[in-house]
Amino acid sequence: MATLKAVRGTRDLLPPETALWNRVEATARAVFARYGFGEIRTPIFETTELFARGVGEETDIVSKEMYTWEDRGRADSDKGQSLTLRPENTAGVVRAYIEHGLADSGLLQKLFYIGPQFRRERPQRGRYRQFWQIGAEVLGPAWSGSDSALRDAEVLEMLATFLDELGVKGWRLALNSVGSSTDRPRYVEALKAALAPVKAGMCENCQRRAETNPLRVLDCKEAEDQATIDALPKIADYLDDASREHFALVKAALDACGVAYVVEPRLVRGLDYYTRTTFEFTVPDGSGLGTQNALLGGGRYDGLSEMLGGPKAPGIGFAIGEDRLILTLQAQAGEAAEKKLDVFIAPMGVARNAEALRLAQELRRAGLSVEVGDGFFRLKKSFEAADKLARRMIILGEDEVASGILTVKDFAAGEQTKVPRSELAAVLRG
Ligand code: HAM
Repeated sequence: MATLKAVRGTRDLLPPETALWNRVEATARAVFARYGFGEIRTPIFETTELFARGVGEETDIVSKEMYTWEDRGRADSDKGQSLTLRPENTAGVVRAYIEHGLADSGLLQKLFYIGPQFRRERPQRGRYRQFWQIGAEVLGPAWSGSDSALRDAEVLEMLATFLDELGVKGWRLALNSVGSSTDRPRYVEALKAALAPVKAGMCENCQRRAETNPLRVLDCKEAEDQATIDALPKIADYLDDASREHFALVKAALDACGVAYVVEPRLVRGLDYYTRTTFEFTVPDGSGLGTQNALLGGGRYDGLSEMLGGPKAPGIGFAIGEDRLILTLQAQAGEAAEKKLDVFIAPMGVARNAEALRLAQELRRAGLSVEVGDGFFRLKKSFEAADKLARRMIILGEDEVASGILTVKDFAAGEQTKVPRSELAAVLRG
């Protein structure tokens, strides 16, 4: 029978790597709490319409990458509907904001999430079909200050702090403004007009995008197209006064906080809901991501709530690709030092097994990490297992149980010491 494997583009995360995932998530929770964020958990599947309306029908995500199915109803009261595994979490958070009337408090909502997302992309290093995002959204009615440039800068400063605290080296913040919902259509028209006479000389993708979604032409990585793209109109020249001023305030606040950024006029991002500020953090080549160097992305979405039938609720947020963050930390730190258990208990003979378990219970309750061998192991096998798993080993034989004096072998120091059982936990902790 053929053996079963994880589905292409999905993967199992195993120890000891999961310890790093937990450290990253614990750091995110700790940092985000200092900025007043609370956790939100939304369902992993939603109606297909949410993403079609929120993320946009014309985007790659919605048009090509979603896992969508017709969910059969089970009764007349339970009609069938089209459902989709979430490809991102912003639309779900804004839906929840509307559904639970979070606007009613009049306060700014600061919400973060950690969870899997699903996109049917071509799998490669740093790109999976199930991947994890750590994200956050700040939104609320305009009178809560949700459209203030202060919030954009606060979110970016928080990200800089988070990456620094984790020890990510060499990150780079690319920043842009894509303007308001009225600036953007004017720019798209200008882009279309400028592309019309030159598109025939561009790659196939650009030729198609010039018609369907001209903004995406700016993402093209084909070397031959770069000169043409650089000569296209820049969004900065199409911003109205309010958007221009908003962007200037974001940059001034970042300058004041000492957060370095590079303005990238071509950074328009692949989701339709963005308005004004957009950004991406990348890491240098050789940071373990292959060609996927975008560690995280985000931006402002001042019209998203209304697109989903809700009240006006400007907002800004980001999502970090957690898989990519882990790859980066692993590549930058080299092989992480394996964390070993405090002690391995080796019972001599199966008759000592129960007593070994009792000693392990005592030590674990005292906060130590402990593995127990098995009395049927030969001494040599116990030594090998202990050396692999733990920093120290205790041999538990008949004499030790009778006398209450235990021998602790420390592998790194190459020493053996005799310790009364009553002092054991304290000694091992020291
Ligand atoms: P996004 O740029 O589509 O934005 O995704 C954010 C991050 O998720 C990317 O920078 C990348 O690190 C990671 N990512 C995306 N696709 C994959 C994949 N197939 N495999 C591994 N990692 C991936 C959003 O999702 C927006 N919801 C961000 C946002 C929040 N904007 C405002 N609020």
